Amino acid sequence: ASDVQAAPPQMGFNNWNSTHCRDEFNETMIRGIADKFISLGLRDAGYTYVNIDDCWANWQRDKNENLQPNPKRFPAGIKALADYIHQHGLKFGLYSSAGTSTCEPLQENRGFPGGLGHEKQDAATIAAWNVDYLKYDNCNNQKVDAIQRYTAMAEALRATARPIFFSVCEWGENKPWTWAGKPPVDAGSWRSTGDISDSYASMLKNFKQNVVLDRYATPGHYNDPDMLEVGNGGMSDTEYRSHFSLWSIMAAPLLIGTDLRKIKPDALKILLNKEVIAVDQDPMGVQGKQVRDSDGIHVLVKPLNDGSRAVAVFNENDTQRDVAVSDAETGLTARSSYNVRDLWAHTQAKGDGTLKVHLQAHETAIYRISRL
Ligand code: GLA
Repeated sequence: ASDVQAAPPQMGFNNWNSTHCRDEFNETMIRGIADKFISLGLRDAGYTYVNIDDCWANWQRDKNENLQPNPKRFPAGIKALADYIHQHGLKFGLYSSAGTSTCEPLQENRGFPGGLGHEKQDAATIAAWNVDYLKYDNCNNQKVDAIQRYTAMAEALRATARPIFFSVCEWGENKPWTWAGKPPVDAGSWRSTGDISDSYASMLKNFKQNVVLDRYATPGHYNDPDMLEVGNGGMSDTEYRSHFSLWSIMAAPLLIGTDLRKIKPDALKILLNKEVIAVDQDPMGVQGKQVRDSDGIHVLVKPLNDGSRAVAVFNENDTQRDVAVSDAETGLTARSSYNVRDLWAHTQAKGDGTLKVHLQAHETAIYRISRL
């Protein structure tokens, strides 16, 4: 156990996975999401950020070259939206790209203004709007060195009077895990993968790319295998529980990607599992390590601040499996017995060293194991 209180991975919402750039992405929606954070108990569960993604901006900068919002989507302006979110006890995040324009639309010669070459001015605008978080993407980067591009914005943000969380969205192209978490960039998280989509195959792909990067995560600086798809309908609840369990044991950002105004009870229950959230948010800030990867069975172990360990057992296969996990794998090799808490069943059992798990196809069991 340590007394160090590292910033845990960020938790919140981002509209991208549910709306992309469709018209429904606007200030009415985002205000509605902030309301739901309170009424559904998400704020109380630790979700803090309400973030907006690409397509919030107007096509052109204003006559002073300042960023401005799309007047149809955000007629009241970004500051008014940020203030509304702050009044709910929440924080507000914005999006830009370390390029000449952002990622959407994908056609050439037309795009929303990016931050490259405008870092100081845009950071000042963002701070004046009371923004708390910037996701900084990688499109239209003109092949300028990545460390240089992300450093320029990181320094511009720090030069404002406002603390602004910096989320590097570089998709793993230039191994951001080796530089984004350290000065001078010093980001809170960096994307380690391409974009997730709402399918088991996509979730699995991002999991596999991210799980091997555990040694690069440090307290307050985390690998980001992209935002959650829980609730969007393309996976089964078993698969969404795996998604949420694996992201949590990997100390990934937990950014909800579904429209909370329409969420179904079963999906909400996954996002509100406080015992799994506690694994993600553990103050030791360690990304769980994969200690087994064979025959489609993945075992991950994450040390927790109170001396216990989180253990996840994931069955990637399309058929069910019986798995035994030894105490040598979990690292709990005392001769004593263990308290084994099942974080989905919310039940407790006495363990004797070997964990026996029956898993459906694509299922993950996650436990908190402590010495008795
Ligand atoms: C990139 C990012 C996504 C999203 C889109 C928006 O693809 O990786 O997360 O922000 O751009 O256009």
